[in-house]
Amino acid sequence: MALCFIPFFLWVLKAHATSFDPNQQFPQKNIFILAGQSNMAGRGGLIINDDRTRTQIWDGVVPSASRPNPSVLRLNAKLSWVQAHEPLHADIDVASVDGVGPGMAFANAVLADDPSNGPIGLVPCAIGGTNISQWEKGTPLYRHMVKRARASVAADGGTIRALLWYQGESDTILKQDAEVYGRRLERLFQDIRLDLMSPMLPIIQVALASGVGPYVDTVREAQFGTELLNVRTVDPIGLTVGPDKLHLTTESQVQLGEMMADAFLKFLPKQLSIDSTGTQTTSSSSSSTIFFFSMMPLITIVISTVSLLV
Ligand SMILES: *[C@@H]1O[C@H](CO)[C@@H](O)[C@H](O)[C@H]1NC(C)=O
Repeated sequence: MALCFIPFFLWVLKAHATSFDPNQQFPQKNIFILAGQSNMAGRGGLIINDDRTRTQIWDGVVPSASRPNPSVLRLNAKLSWVQAHEPLHADIDVASVDGVGPGMAFANAVLADDPSNGPIGLVPCAIGGTNISQWEKGTPLYRHMVKRARASVAADGGTIRALLWYQGESDTILKQDAEVYGRRLERLFQDIRLDLMSPMLPIIQVALASGVGPYVDTVREAQFGTELLNVRTVDPIGLTVGPDKLHLTTESQVQLGEMMADAFLKFLPKQLSIDSTGTQTTSSSSSSTIFFFSMMPLITIVISTVSLLV
C-alpha cells in the first residue's frame, strides 16, 4: 500500500524542483483581462484627419506613463505574447480607430509600485459601441473574451489577477435598459468568474464618465450598487472627456489607468508583492490560492512519508 506512493512522491519532488528552475525563461505572468467598450479599447488622441470626410486618425502621442516596458506583454489577436504598446486594442477592436486607453498606464503603475509585480500580461478584449447584452454569456464577445483569457494562461503560464471592465455608455439610451443594467452586470461578472474557475476574481470596473443617451446616472447608480465581493468601482468623474463628449482624452486615460492600479493594489496585502506566498489575507483570495498551491508539494511529501512509515 505504502509503496504505491513512491512514484508519486518522486513526481512531487520533481515538480517541486522544476517550479524553482532559475533557467525558466519568464517568471509567471500576472495577467489582466481588459474588456468593455470604446473607453477601455482607448480613444485617447484621436483627431479628425479630414474635415470633409470627418475620418479620424490617432495622433500617435504616447505619454511617458504609457510607454512600453519590457515587463509588460500583450496577448495579440493570434494569441501570442508580444511586447505591449498603445493602442493595446489595435488588432482587437479592428472596426474602429484605436488610441490610448488605460491599459499601459495601469500596468506601468502596478510595476512602479513594486517591480516584482512583473511580468504583466495584458489581454485586450474591448470592442467599441457594444452594449451589455452583447457581452452576455453565450454571445460572440463573451466567448471571445473567455477564449482569450484561457489562452493567456495556457500559453506559458501565469495567473489571471483581475478583470478590468469599462462599459455601459451604450446602455444609457433607453430607460428600461439602464434600469436592468445592474442585474445584467452582476450576472456577467458571476459568469466570467465561473467560466475562469476563479469565483473571487478581483474586478476593477469604471463607472461611467459619459454616455450616448440620457440615462448615464441610472447606469452609474447600478455600477456603484454592485454588491458582489471583490469588485471595486473607480469613478472617472472629474477627468476630461474629449470634444465628442464621449471619450476620455489621452491624459485622462493615463489618470484612469493609475486610479485602476491603485484600486487593484488595494486587493494585495500591504508590503507584499503579488507573488509573495505564506501570508493569508482576507481581501485577496488569489494570494491564499497561491499559498495553498505553493504548499501542495510539501503537504504531499508529508502525507507520502507518513504513509511509508505506517
Ligand atoms: C444591444 O445591441 C444589439 C446589437 O446592436 C441590439 O440588437 C440590442 O437591442 C441592444 N440591446 C440593448 C439592451 O441596448
